Amino acid sequence: MLTKGHLQTLKQSDLNQLYALLRTTTDNKEALFLLENIGALPHGFDGLIFMRWLGSDNSDIRYWTVKNIGKTGDPDLVLLLYETATHDPDSFVRREAVSSIGRLRNPTTIPVLTQFLSDSDPKVVLQAIRGLLVFRSDPTVMSELEKLAEHPNETIQQVIRKARMNGHSASQEQPAHTSSPEFMRNVVVHGDVLETLTYVPDEAIHLTFTSPPYYNARDYSIYESYQAYLDFLTQVFCEVHRVTKEGRFLIVNTSPVIVPRVSRSHSSKRYPIPFDLHGRLVQTGWEFIDDIIWLKPETSVKNRNAGFLQHRKPLGYKPNPVTEYLMVYRKATDRLLDWNIREYDHENVQASKVQGDYETSNVWRIDPTFDRVHSAVFPAELCRRVIRYYSYIGDLIFDPFGGSGTLGKAARDMQRNFFLTEKEAKYVDRMRQILGENTLFEQNNIQFLTVDQFAAHSQESS
Ligand SMILES: C[S@@+](CC[C@H](N)C(=O)[O-])C[C@H]1O[C@@H](n2cnc3c(N)ncnc32)[C@H](O)[C@@H]1O
Repeated sequence: MLTKGHLQTLKQSDLNQLYALLRTTTDNKEALFLLENIGALPHGFDGLIFMRWLGSDNSDIRYWTVKNIGKTGDPDLVLLLYETATHDPDSFVRREAVSSIGRLRNPTTIPVLTQFLSDSDPKVVLQAIRGLLVFRSDPTVMSELEKLAEHPNETIQQVIRKARMNGHSASQEQPAHTSSPEFMRNVVVHGDVLETLTYVPDEAIHLTFTSPPYYNARDYSIYESYQAYLDFLTQVFCEVHRVTKEGRFLIVNTSPVIVPRVSRSHSSKRYPIPFDLHGRLVQTGWEFIDDIIWLKPETSVKNRNAGFLQHRKPLGYKPNPVTEYLMVYRKATDRLLDWNIREYDHENVQASKVQGDYETSNVWRIDPTFDRVHSAVFPAELCRRVIRYYSYIGDLIFDPFGGSGTLGKAARDMQRNFFLTEKEAKYVDRMRQILGENTLFEQNNIQFLTVDQFAAHSQESS
């Protein structure tokens, strides 16, 4: 019985016997064992010996055959690989054949690999791209790859963008990843968020956590239509995308809302805000990362069960909504999270580490908070968790719909800076009280500005 050790010995000391074995093995199981375990091939190994298996009716055997042909590094075998990559009925075999052509790392393969850039299987295209990137210093190769920048497949687009990025040194004009504009730190702007954001420079913010106004569910949120409401939020998050630093996070707290019926002859309507917003956010350049459920005690929410409790008739069932979503997005980038983290100095990374207990699941059980002035405030614990898991000390944290300023208070308590916008005077007044409760704010020069004052500060700093 053939073993891995035996194969290794044959490779090192009796190549002819190995060739004989490869030539005479007929049993599929034995052939597969041989092909899978043969390992690295010695220089000058005759790859044609594998050819007989390219016609096998077993796709695993064909897969391992093309892999081994690639290992020979023999450019004369390109045609064999090309034929398989073009005609094999199995996608895995075709992909491996293109990968093997790439592994030859021979400039003669450039035209062959280029042909596969228009293959209908995105994974074949990706293998061809990988093979071609070895020759990225050749301008004709790069210009062929450039043609894929608008490819319908998102992974291909991403690989091409990254290849482009590696070819150019990073722009000098981007602000340092860890810093933020001084004129925005610990500032509350009383005004419309969209107007205010026009005075915010690109890539100024590290983290945004917000709970947007509800759709026609509270006094402050009156929109002409649901469409107009979604359009407004899309505009806001598009601007937030512009002002967010590369690869950093946006966390949006929403839940479906019920708009009560207009009369007894109508029914109430439920609007699935998080689900309708999601596609729009992704289209604006936000990459979906996680959905966190904020779970509240049932006793804390409005009871919708009373009717059903009495009549018990199916279709009339109405569960009590005890959850809200925290949808987590990252500003889409080809850089890994490690890149973001490496931008911080060692001391900051150590000091910002999440120590002790932390929430391990995506269900966060937190009691809601009630405020005497604002009807929909964040619980401080919710803010603390988001800040702890998604920011570093010294970061600038933004809430475009600042409300009573809960996020700002948590940010300052956790040695971060905040930037808040809020359009209602009564809530800005509430913020003054809440943020002022902490004497730290006086020491840290918290500023309440009008949009015009903020615009002037922005201009001065540019
Ligand atoms: C759900 S509340 C946010 C509450 C906040 N998370 C807190 O902890 O207090 C939404 C807030 O957005 C504000 N708002 C609505 N439209 C706005 C706009 N265009 N610009 C700025 N603020 C706005 C509302 O006045 C309201 O205070």
